[in-house]
Amino acid sequence: AFVVTDNCIKCKYTDCVAVCPVDAFFEGPNFLVIDPAICIDCALCVPECPAEAIFQDTELPVEQSHYLEINAQLCQEWPNINELKAPPADADEWNGVADKLHLLER
Ligand code: SF4
Ligand code: F3S
Repeated sequence: AFVVTDNCIKCKYTDCVAVCPVDAFFEGPNFLVIDPAICIDCALCVPECPAEAIFQDTELPVEQSHYLEINAQLCQEWPNINELKAPPADADEWNGVADKLHLLER
């Protein structure tokens, strides 16, 4: 499965959800996750993300490895999202800021 990682936090551009053929994305207040049980590994979402936040689980950078569990857990708690929506007004300012996990809202 593919995994949404740190740089999505407070960016949440949602371009990814518009291309997912199986509606595998789930939405929290300032982050999205992928349900690993739904994702079919098509990779279509990867080039759509302006924050380059999506990785295949087998290619997850080691410093992002905790996002495997975060995606698997939060997809059970958050509602599905399958349509593009406006990103936060300050999304571009947060794009590229490192280590945003402490800012994740649940
Ligand atoms: Fe959806 Fe494909 Fe991305 Fe998985 S890899 S979340 S199926 S677009
Ligand atoms: Fe997040 Fe990138 Fe999608 S910032 S909402 S994973 S397009």
